[in-house]
Amino acid sequence: MIGKGGCPEQASAKICMRVLVITGAGVSAESGISTFRGKDGYWRNLDPTKLATPEAFARDPNLVWNWYCERRQRIRKAQPNPAHQAIANLALQADEFLLVTQNVDDLHLRAGLPPEKMVQIHGDIFMTRCSRCEFRRYEQEQDGASLPKCPDCGALMRPGVVWFGEQLDLRKIGEVENFVTGGDCDLVIVAGTSALFGYIIDWALRARGQAGQLIEVNPEETSLSQFATRSFREPAGVALPRVVDELLSNGSA
Ligand code: OAD
Repeated sequence: MIGKGGCPEQASAKICMRVLVITGAGVSAESGISTFRGKDGYWRNLDPTKLATPEAFARDPNLVWNWYCERRQRIRKAQPNPAHQAIANLALQADEFLLVTQNVDDLHLRAGLPPEKMVQIHGDIFMTRCSRCEFRRYEQEQDGASLPKCPDCGALMRPGVVWFGEQLDLRKIGEVENFVTGGDCDLVIVAGTSALFGYIIDWALRARGQAGQLIEVNPEETSLSQFATRSFREPAGVALPRVVDELLSNGSA
């Protein structure tokens, strides 16, 4: 039984820890989903300004829509890997838990992560939303043959993801902020992200507080590496199951 300051004794293998996990594209790499800036990443060969900005969509909506439909297809065929499973397991066992993922795929959910414990800060690729009004719908099963129009106002529909130059969803920022300011985390795990965005580093460091552990899982160094208390330079699907097993059996990383 792992019990820390004020945590009631629990009969199951629950660990009395407050845990924040932040993931990026590297966590889905072993499921066959490309990263953006890693080896063979999308942005190594494709120009984000032509595919992932509001201006690109205004200029050539079919090109943008087709690229997202191809990505949706690839994700539908992919399966969660041991990294997704380890994170879902940790979410179920930790006393307090939040996953902030930059991934727009649904592999964390399909691995069994409870939706209320996850914030998809860059949106959800299976959400299609109107480019003008508030209409949105979920399209996990299949896509139509052509670019859809909003049934309410007739404007073009677009993928429900955050593009370069767009604001993050304020409600989602609020959910993360609530968790980060709700108490120091015993453990912050940052896995599979190049951590290029300031808010990712900020959340990781603030959540950790003075005494928490900060574990980074990434085969490459990132700008977050200097702050990590432990680094695993391995694929997430290899390191995360081990880290989570260790946590669940010892109560510490
Ligand atoms: P990146 O492509 O920038 O970074 C992926 C990171 O994963 C790199 O640091 C790799 O070293 C690492 N990596 C690769 N394979 C791995 C593996 N098997 N296990 C662990 N790590 C591995 O992806 P993100 O950091 O997620 O934005 O990119 C952030 C955002 O930039 C994305 O959400 C996307 C992109 O433009 C939007 O879509 C808004």
